[in-house]
Amino acid sequence: MNTNSIDKFSKEIIKRTSSENIFYYWKGRVGLYALLKAMGVKAGDEVILPAYTCVVVPNAILYLGAKPIYIDVNSDTYNMNTALLKKAITDRTKVIICQNTYGLSTDLEEIHSIAQENGIYTIEDCTHGFGGTYNGVPHAFYCDASFFSTQWNKPFSTGIGGFLTTNNKELAQKISTLNTALIEPTSKELWNLRVLYFVKRYLLNEYTYWPLVHFYRWLSHNTPVVGSSSIDEINTAMMPPDYFKGFSLVQAKEGLRNIKEIDKDLLSRKENAHLYTNFLIKHNKNRVEKKWFNNHSFLKYPLLVKEREKFMELAEKSHIELGEWFLSPLHPVTGDLSTWGFIKGEHPNSEYLASHVVNLPTTPSNINKVLVFLKSNLDLIL
Ligand SMILES: Cc1ncc(COP(=O)(O)O)c(C=O)c1O
Repeated sequence: MNTNSIDKFSKEIIKRTSSENIFYYWKGRVGLYALLKAMGVKAGDEVILPAYTCVVVPNAILYLGAKPIYIDVNSDTYNMNTALLKKAITDRTKVIICQNTYGLSTDLEEIHSIAQENGIYTIEDCTHGFGGTYNGVPHAFYCDASFFSTQWNKPFSTGIGGFLTTNNKELAQKISTLNTALIEPTSKELWNLRVLYFVKRYLLNEYTYWPLVHFYRWLSHNTPVVGSSSIDEINTAMMPPDYFKGFSLVQAKEGLRNIKEIDKDLLSRKENAHLYTNFLIKHNKNRVEKKWFNNHSFLKYPLLVKEREKFMELAEKSHIELGEWFLSPLHPVTGDLSTWGFIKGEHPNSEYLASHVVNLPTTPSNINKVLVFLKSNLDLIL
């Protein structure tokens, strides 16, 4: 690998995460798996996580034979309800995973202190939170380790990709050893990625957004094109054979190109989030409260609606780039989640949010167009 590109990429990341040790992967989830393994998670152990996440998170726990213990979220922060945390800790608890859902910070102070009292490791799932801060310190700094995603929709993208960071030297040493088993991406996968970069850069706009999103989903479910998740990861809790895969120079170069815009990008996300909150306050609708704004990077702006399918259809017709994370407490799997140990009815807030949420774009091509769309559909907003 051309270490020059990787070094330059690393420098940018170190600057924004205050982390000493960074390890790169084909996808962020592989970093989570490596961390859990380095923390000694094994069969019979328990790992606590929010009951509102992406299915690849419990997958990484289950691949090690451990048990995911879900904690319901707060409906106003979309993150773990820390009041439920203490009760969930047992003598088998090894790790607490907390999350920056949509770039909204979680209550890291409280989680960190509960973990310390109980001698438990913490991992911050920063897949949505690059560039955000909590109490003035960058996301990733509070916990023993964190992992990030640089997948398509993230603040800067390598197409797919991710990395982990830790300031714990012992963990870093163990991860270095584990990483000797990483396999390399195939040249077919890398060509796939290059084609997708081209499509994103030159063909994606507000008119092509929805057709391309549908086409990409169809391709990644029906063909071997490089997708966010494989069918195995969505249908089973068994590790795909080529899961433990490393990063590539192709991804590093794309990341370097995109990270240049990060400061401007983060600023405009916050400004647009302010506009959404002001608009929603004016119309007395659900919103992210201003008191938390300092801590958030706003990858997306969550909004709760009635009749979500209708709302999404209307958005598509108006060429509004709405997102749909998380349609399920273990996105994107809908229906029976018992394969992942998630029992229906046990996490009411997560289930409620998952059935009503849509995500407003925080870097839309035209924010006024989104606001006009919201105004003409106020009756569908909760
Ligand atoms: C909360 C959460 N955690 C983990 C991941 C996994 O990231 P990656 O796709 O880079 O493996 C995602 C995916 O977007 C996510 O939403």
